[in-house]
Amino acid sequence: MCGIIGYIGEREAVSIILEGLKRLEYRGYDSAGIGILKEGKLSILKCKGRISYLQTLLEKKQISARIGIGHTRWATHGEPSSRNAHPHSDFSRHIAVVHNGIIENYQELRKQLEKEGVRFTSETDSEIVPNLIKKFYEGDLRKALRKVIKILRGSYALGIISVDEPDKIIAIRNDSPLIIALGKKENFIASDIPAILAYTRKVIYLNNGEIAVVGKDDVEILDKRGRKVAVSPEKVSFNIELAQKKGFKDFMLKEIYEQPSVLSRILSQYVKDNRIDFKTSGISPSLLKSIKEVVIIACGTAFHAGLVGRYLLETFSRLPVWAELGSEFRYRHPVIGKKTLVIAISQSGETADTLAGVREAKRRGARVISICNVLGSSLIRESEAYLYTYAGPEISVASTKAYTAQLTLLYLFSLYLARVKEKISAEQSKKVISYLKKIPQAQRKVLEREAEIKEIARKHLHFGAFLYLGRGVNFPTALEGALKLKELSYIPAEGYAAGEMKHGPIALIDEYRAVVCIANDSPLYEKMFSNIQEIIARRGKIIAIASEGNEQIKRLIKEVIFIPSVEPLLSPLLTVVPLQLLAYYLASLKGYDVDKPRNLAKSVTVE
Ligand code: G6P
Repeated sequence: MCGIIGYIGEREAVSIILEGLKRLEYRGYDSAGIGILKEGKLSILKCKGRISYLQTLLEKKQISARIGIGHTRWATHGEPSSRNAHPHSDFSRHIAVVHNGIIENYQELRKQLEKEGVRFTSETDSEIVPNLIKKFYEGDLRKALRKVIKILRGSYALGIISVDEPDKIIAIRNDSPLIIALGKKENFIASDIPAILAYTRKVIYLNNGEIAVVGKDDVEILDKRGRKVAVSPEKVSFNIELAQKKGFKDFMLKEIYEQPSVLSRILSQYVKDNRIDFKTSGISPSLLKSIKEVVIIACGTAFHAGLVGRYLLETFSRLPVWAELGSEFRYRHPVIGKKTLVIAISQSGETADTLAGVREAKRRGARVISICNVLGSSLIRESEAYLYTYAGPEISVASTKAYTAQLTLLYLFSLYLARVKEKISAEQSKKVISYLKKIPQAQRKVLEREAEIKEIARKHLHFGAFLYLGRGVNFPTALEGALKLKELSYIPAEGYAAGEMKHGPIALIDEYRAVVCIANDSPLYEKMFSNIQEIIARRGKIIAIASEGNEQIKRLIKEVIFIPSVEPLLSPLLTVVPLQLLAYYLASLKGYDVDKPRNLAKSVTVE
């Protein structure tokens, strides 16, 4: 949700900022801008639309500088327009600011500043920040900023430059992500690691309330009171290659294809001699022994992983388990306490609703662990222990490899918990692990059907709505399939538990609606097959996901995507793959930008 980058050094700042913005575009892409300092002057260039428009503008102007800040926006306050794009400056055009987050009390602050004679040019909450800094400025940006943050309410990551102190970028974070990256005779600020990976892998993760003073040769981190904080930079474990398309048309397709290797990587990290080893995660048997119930908190695709997790945890550990949406959980006065284990699932580790849920859970005494794909993220830092998903950077807005990575960790964690609780034997655990080991190869087999799935998508481009049906552990897969389709192709799609079809969705079925039925081998297959017949009787158009060798379905339905037959409980790791490809092709054949669907952003840092 909005991407920030800043550069100071000896190289051309404009091109570095532009490249960084392209790598952050998944965080928002409705408008973009850049601010630079040169020869005692502040220049700002911004426009509505994608980074490519900004690039064209910059090429015409041919501006150059050694210090600057950039921003790619996902609108909250004020429509996407060049006026509302960042950077924003104070009315005297001395100070420029890029902001990610929401200033909740901006209206009262804006009224006050207007009374004092400030004229605003945008509708954003962000524009008050440079004006407040200007108001408090007495020759030291850091001191002015400390005064400003005392009166700001809300979340923010800020990058600030000023003509009065042209040798530094000032940065601060409060509940919105920000890293400082260290190079040789150059330093950076950024919302996320991919923006700086081409230049350095040495980063400092800022803590809430810390101010960074970033010069060309040095970086100083100050606490809320202005005292120096000693920090040791961390080395990012992945390289720039992982954040590139590597010959694939889109990041999404590349990430779909990465799933088998991500799954293998997770198993090699956490399974030693067929036993689950969570030593690196901080999860210990003693943490789990006292737990009497589990609550999973997540949003979006991660929530669907949580719904699958609920089946797994209940099946193996026999504890009561709930899966909750972060945005609902925190306002529900949940009945939880110190015997509740909260598992927060998030690819980014920065989703505001998930974090708010976690804070509420901690306030009520629950123990919190997380499943997350970003080391150094807010979620990981706020959790007692964490399971890192090793999926590598996920750039496409629609989540794919992070989802199956989250599922894999949920399988392992369920087995681990069940062993701690003595609900399953070592042999049973080993057996499930041996099934898991077969999944990457089975996923590859599904990926071999890409051309077939593309053809099915082509035949269904004109359908106005899709219904996705699944049962049991694949009910969440139906929800995820429908989510993928609507977010990428803008075709209305609904996921339903197949057993609920007769209570409503059956009224929708006719020859103009496609129904995707997940009918793989499982104890519930016969029930699913009855649902399929009910749909056929009403002339519904079915696309079935079935296990190889299912002649019954082959005889009845024209469009069947066959997948290898695997242990039913593990099938969500497989059944989702054709649904990802189907959504991908229904969107890309319509000519849509699958990596950046309209109105969406990858890291949703606002509530
Ligand atoms: C956004 C993304 C989804 C993602 C959700 C939760 O809506 O577009 O792909 O599932 O946020 O994100 P998280 O980073 O918490 O997994």
